[in-house]
Amino acid sequence: MAVGTELVVCTTCRLPGADPQAPRDGARLSDALTAHGVAHRRQECLSACANGCAVVFRGTGRWTYVQGRIDPDLHLNDLISMYHAFAATPDGIVPWRTRPEVIRKNTIARIPPFDFQDQES
Ligand code: FES
Repeated sequence: MAVGTELVVCTTCRLPGADPQAPRDGARLSDALTAHGVAHRRQECLSACANGCAVVFRGTGRWTYVQGRIDPDLHLNDLISMYHAFAATPDGIVPWRTRPEVIRKNTIARIPPFDFQDQES
């Protein structure tokens, strides 16, 4: 994990239409990240349940991104590359065109850092 950033994974998410008897997809995502040596934090429910699997990128002085629709069987490499790109920025803003498609299409929210500059149109 990069200094000053962290990846938070909801461990209780299920993908849309998932078998309720099957292991939680969010827990599987967390386990897959661990197997790939990606440090992260585990949290039950991020209140984005309809958009599972949900994760958060956050860090000191950076924008926070809430991401949904991460399928551990399809998007693990996209998630890892996006997290590394996020951690490499000073402000958390990864150029839109360089974000993996699943990230571009499934950002639930972006939240400014604590001491951001107001922007008005
Ligand atoms: S169960 Fe994952 S956001 Fe609610």
